[in-house]
Amino acid sequence: MDIKQQILAAFNFRHACKEFDASRKISDEDFNVILEAARLSPSSFGFEPWKFLVLQNMELREKIRPVCWGAQKQLPTASHYIILLTRKATDMRYDSTYIKTIMEDLQKSPPEVIKTRTQRTKNFQENDFRLTDERLLFDWACTQTYIALGDIMTAAALLGIDSCPIEGFNRENLETILTEEKILDKEHFGVACMAAFGYRLADPKRAKTRRSLNEVEEWIK
Ligand SMILES: Cc1cc2nc3c(=O)[nH]c(=O)nc-3n(C[C@H](O)[C@H](O)[C@H](O)COP(=O)(O)O)c2cc1C
Repeated sequence: MDIKQQILAAFNFRHACKEFDASRKISDEDFNVILEAARLSPSSFGFEPWKFLVLQNMELREKIRPVCWGAQKQLPTASHYIILLTRKATDMRYDSTYIKTIMEDLQKSPPEVIKTRTQRTKNFQENDFRLTDERLLFDWACTQTYIALGDIMTAAALLGIDSCPIEGFNRENLETILTEEKILDKEHFGVACMAAFGYRLADPKRAKTRRSLNEVEEWIK
């Protein structure tokens, strides 16, 4: 297959896998590629508002299952299960310590550049996108994390690995459990979404349903 065929084959292969073959495990080498795809994902201003919790403790998976209605079969059977955390307003506001650290230590921007970028971020958050409260800032940060969600599912599909994106959970109840287990610092992070990975137990029951391209595209010339 040429690269174009490979890409489309991967997108057609990917489906929301409901149940995995629990006896099959993803190799460390393959799973590292998936995590690298997550890490290399783009984010607004390069703030990388995410953390990827790889939940391999089966007791803990069982513990969160009652509050995850959309992952009933995926939680016990997935080879690997990621909870995609996203930073909250405490870290995402233009004047947070986290953003300062990213600009200084990671992006190694000089002070005058930091000043300009901070002002631009402030203007973006307050005027352009009107991210005027904590929830809006968190939701904006979540949009970045969903890019990583897309990237890891595509990377997996290219490796012949199945996945399922999961939003079917009660956020408050899930975060309470994760906080009690001391794996979530609620002041800085919330749960954006989750993703299960493994190998399908059976082929999907139904063919993919998608609207046709001419229903979803519009060319402005
Ligand atoms: C953000 C998001 C959340 C989803 N949450 C769940 C979920 O909780 N449980 C589930 O089984 N599928 C979930 N899905 C899968 C969708 O139902 C599925 O992608 C859609 O029906 C299209 O089918 P396909 O992915 O198999 O092509 C989710 C998909 C997305 C993008």
